[in-house]
Amino acid sequence: MKSPLFHSIKIGNVTIPGNLFLAPLAGFTDKAFRSICIDRGASFTYSEMVSAEALARDSEKTRKLMERAENENLLGIQIFLPNADTAKRAVPELLKANPTVIDINCGCPVPKVVKNGAGSALMKKPEIIEEIIKTISGETDIPVTVKFRTGWDLNSINYLSFAEAAVRGGASLLTMHGRTRSQGYSGEADWESIKKLKSEFDVPVIGSGNIFSAEDAKRMLETTGVDGVLFARGAMGNPFIFERTKNLLMGNDSPSPNSMDVKIKTAWEHLSLAVHYKGEQTACREMKKQLCSYTKGEKGSAALRNRIVRAETLEEYREIFKEYLL
Ligand SMILES: Cc1cc2nc3c(=O)[nH]c(=O)nc-3n(C[C@H](O)[C@H](O)[C@H](O)COP(=O)(O)O)c2cc1C
Repeated sequence: MKSPLFHSIKIGNVTIPGNLFLAPLAGFTDKAFRSICIDRGASFTYSEMVSAEALARDSEKTRKLMERAENENLLGIQIFLPNADTAKRAVPELLKANPTVIDINCGCPVPKVVKNGAGSALMKKPEIIEEIIKTISGETDIPVTVKFRTGWDLNSINYLSFAEAAVRGGASLLTMHGRTRSQGYSGEADWESIKKLKSEFDVPVIGSGNIFSAEDAKRMLETTGVDGVLFARGAMGNPFIFERTKNLLMGNDSPSPNSMDVKIKTAWEHLSLAVHYKGEQTACREMKKQLCSYTKGEKGSAALRNRIVRAETLEEYREIFKEYLL
């Protein structure tokens, strides 16, 4: 059955089979988590943001961020960079990873990134984003896309002129997070601006900000007219959000909320995949915040989290989770 709200999206010469996207999330969207989300209905996934400068310098650690999970046929690789020169130098390494889409980060608010002129600092200089996209597009047919905010701060909202520059440069898709750089991640995202952006451009638009449930996703699609939605904090510890949204958009019955059992079983699968990709020691160390996010809001989760933060080996995790894994 087809639904007017759930559909494929064309990004340049690539067709994405659905419109439920997993956001790039530094420290979260590694291969293991992306794989879990794809299994549960994510239409498209992005890498964590990758430093184009590190790529140009041929960093092994950075290359690893661009690897695909085994079930990941499509992958958007997101890079952050301050100018077209860095783009030119990074492209050869970037192309070796064969991304489906190359996304430019124009939204990261972190001082370390911004002070080098990358992330949301690019919002202050739309002419640079145009140049960056032109440079990359001159080297490859892979679609180039941008992810940006509404502006640097509430006194400099410039998403329309910024998007115009990006499209002039050749951007094939616009993803907007409805907050300014100064707002960080707090407060309500501005969906009115997302709606305005969609109404002004022909390239597909993906909306981001405050999508914490399937109902939020549906509401964003209906009220702003965007082509697709980006799940960010709403997907952390909650990869079920993709299937739930698809069900809702297709008019299917909503399944009952996931039990603690299902959540912990999924967390365990997530940890096992991370061990597969990163090795036990790294996975057990890095996974704490991710595993804790599965138990958020559940009865007894504080005690469980207390134990998780102290676990160091797979065996210790197994002991913590064992009553749920039978
Ligand atoms: C922990 C964390 C890491 C993030 N990392 C990235 C990133 O690497 N690249 C990016 O474009 N956005 C990043 N974002 C922003 C999200 O992709 C998204 O646009 C934002 O969280 C708004 O959506 P939400 O309100 O539904 O969470 C990050 C957000 C969070 C909370």
